[in-house]
Amino acid sequence: MSALAGLHILVTAGPTHEPIDPVRYLANRSSGKQGFAIAAALAARGARVTLIAGPVTLATPTGVTRVDVETALEMEAAVAAALPADAAVLVAAVADWRVDSAGQKIKKGASGPPVLHLVENPDILAGLARSPQRPRLLVGFAAETEHVIDHATAKRVRKQVDWIVANDVSGDVMGGAANSVHIVTEDGVESWARMAKEAVAERLAERIVQALAD
Ligand code: CTP
Ligand code: CA
Repeated sequence: MSALAGLHILVTAGPTHEPIDPVRYLANRSSGKQGFAIAAALAARGARVTLIAGPVTLATPTGVTRVDVETALEMEAAVAAALPADAAVLVAAVADWRVDSAGQKIKKGASGPPVLHLVENPDILAGLARSPQRPRLLVGFAAETEHVIDHATAKRVRKQVDWIVANDVSGDVMGGAANSVHIVTEDGVESWARMAKEAVAERLAERIVQALAD
């Protein structure tokens, strides 16, 4: 299939790791499965896919160019370096905060547990939406544990993206094999039945083919 031949699509996937000191980090439960499945489905349709991956233990899908990163700042730089792109699907569970420290390993001691000072990471998706090199189709994900559709709808408007794929991560979605998502667009909300992450990826890739053909 070559429905996406000649098009460059950027995908981010996985968590980011934010160092606390040289031996410790902040992370989240993202496995990267959903993002990797999307990269595979887009490549199978003929797109040139750049997959920017946080630390995960997954094989690179066939035909995909993979860039490994660790932190949110590295992911932001890798996204910028991969532009221009016709579409971008930012699936990564980017850490919202990084630790303002590093340096030497923190030692136990008489002064008690350390206090970690957090600073907010840049919002890669919102930054891409404002960029002069904004891809024609920009798709974000939303990880929510409550008021899923309301939060996702607000995120779509706030971040100025075309679609938000909302998933309820209060269950076993993060790290699990299946996903139940809602596609939020300017036309409204489409709720898909729970299905394997590969099936979500196939269906989303088909929707992307349609959108880029318009
Ligand atoms: N995202 C990003 N950069 C960040 C945080 C999030 O690019 N620093 C992207 C994610 O890849 C996803 C979308 O923004 O496509 C939404 O991520 P999410 O964590 O659900 O939203 P946040 O805006 O971080 O809001 P919150 O976590 O407070 O719900
Ligand atoms: Ca977040």
